[in-house]
Amino acid sequence: MKFTELETARLRLRACRDDDFDDIFALYSDAENMKYTRNIIADADKMREALARWISCVITDPCHDFEWIVELKSTGEFIGHALAMDFAWQKEISPDLSHLEGHCETAIFILPKHQRCGYGREIKRAVLDFMFESMGCREHVSQCDERNIASQRIIESVGMKYDHSWEIPKAVDGEATGETETRRVYTMTREDWEAAR
Ligand SMILES: CC(C)(COP(=O)(O)OP(=O)(O)OC[C@H]1O[C@@H](n2cnc3c(N)ncnc32)[C@H](O)[C@@H]1OP(=O)(O)O)[C@@H](O)C(=O)NCCC(=O)NCCS
Repeated sequence: MKFTELETARLRLRACRDDDFDDIFALYSDAENMKYTRNIIADADKMREALARWISCVITDPCHDFEWIVELKSTGEFIGHALAMDFAWQKEISPDLSHLEGHCETAIFILPKHQRCGYGREIKRAVLDFMFESMGCREHVSQCDERNIASQRIIESVGMKYDHSWEIPKAVDGEATGETETRRVYTMTREDWEAAR
């Protein structure tokens, strides 16, 4: 399917644009806010490359990587970034990866001043519905640092099940820092999603 914009009661999830650079870089370079993720981007050139990739996903058909700017419907103000990816394209690299078809992941990043307003959960619910209703999702997997309480509350409250924990190298600008973090992995099948609705 092609790239699609989403709406929730209070939010619009729209395509990324060049003029989002300042907002998105402020979000991704905030090491304190992003401390429980592997997504810190401190280098402006790396941010430009990432934003260019996210903009190009709008014209990719089929789209396997939905990258949305999240803004308030009431004012158009930027509040964050959300994404959903499916791994169907990996079977084109190797038939051994066919088992990844229908496997979808998502992530949400919100500016500190807009946190704790319920937006994270509102986005998660909308993206979950989109993945199962429109992206052909068979299984959704979410991971978060075990210290990331906000993420865990969202993940658990939408009905995802804890599966296992694993150690993963920490990275800044995609480069390993030498540290590791423990990530909790949760899963949700289509049946779980239907039961939780
Ligand atoms: C994780 C994140 C997306 C949550 O977004 P949010 O809009 O603040 O979340 P919500 O307002 O929907 O809150 C969800 C729950 O988490 C709780 N919560 C939010 N921030 C919290 C915090 N800093 N500490 C403890 N609990 C917190 C809320 O009280 C709410 O709890 P409830 O279940 O009792 O209602 C946001 O904190 C964020 O962007 N963090 C930085 C990036 C990040 O870590 N992303 C996750 C990648 S896996």
